[in-house]
Amino acid sequence: MNIIRAKDYDDMSRKAANIISAQMIMKPNCVLGLATGSTPIGVYGQLVSRYQEGDLDFSGITTVNLDEYRGISRDNEQSYYYFMHDNLFGKVNIDLTRTFLPDGMEPDSGKACQDYDRVIAETGGVDLQLLGLGHNGHIGFNEPGPVFKAQTHCVKLAESTIKANQRFFASADEVPKEAYTMGIKTIMLAKKILVVVSGADKAPILKKVICGEITPEVQASVLQLHSDVTVVADEAALSEL
Ligand code: F6R
Repeated sequence: MNIIRAKDYDDMSRKAANIISAQMIMKPNCVLGLATGSTPIGVYGQLVSRYQEGDLDFSGITTVNLDEYRGISRDNEQSYYYFMHDNLFGKVNIDLTRTFLPDGMEPDSGKACQDYDRVIAETGGVDLQLLGLGHNGHIGFNEPGPVFKAQTHCVKLAESTIKANQRFFASADEVPKEAYTMGIKTIMLAKKILVVVSGADKAPILKKVICGEITPEVQASVLQLHSDVTVVADEAALSEL
């Protein structure tokens, strides 16, 4: 793994945006795998600024997001669809018909997952996958457990994830309990992977991900087996390494 040390959150965001910008410039029709959550917000802010300055063009880009809550509609402010529009898609010249997330409103979970795997396959594969890191080591919503799940699947969110995501909702009861997420095989098939990590609270798990045993109990540890992973982390997140 290539580890890039950033001073703080802003520096992490700039450095990660540099990598995504380089990818977009070198391959203007590339497929970007995208993440939601707090960590990449600054990265998206950087990409929007660079677009506004005329340095980035999103017109040929295709995106596939990692995950979406189940049972939440696109116009719900807490949906990941809404998040992506708010932070990126609504602010750049991307072709919205080329932006994909799992369909959270598809009640048939088997269909929702198969449809999404087909969509990802039809893009031709992810060139660069952006990932955040959960406190329990999850990537996408691949939660700790006995196995790595290959394809898109429906997950019951871990209690710790529901607690962590509660900050976006009025109460824990309102946090959806299930989500559709890309599987580990799909993530691992991305040509390049970029992980952004910030804050001292992520330091213990980041250490396990980089130096620990490869185990589905720490799903992100599987990234040790990928040949092109870059971790951009701030000093606080790297403080245990
Ligand atoms: C979101 C996602 C999650 C987050 C993770 C970290 O699409 O896939 O794995 O990346 O929960 O979230 P933050 O950045 O809010 O700490």
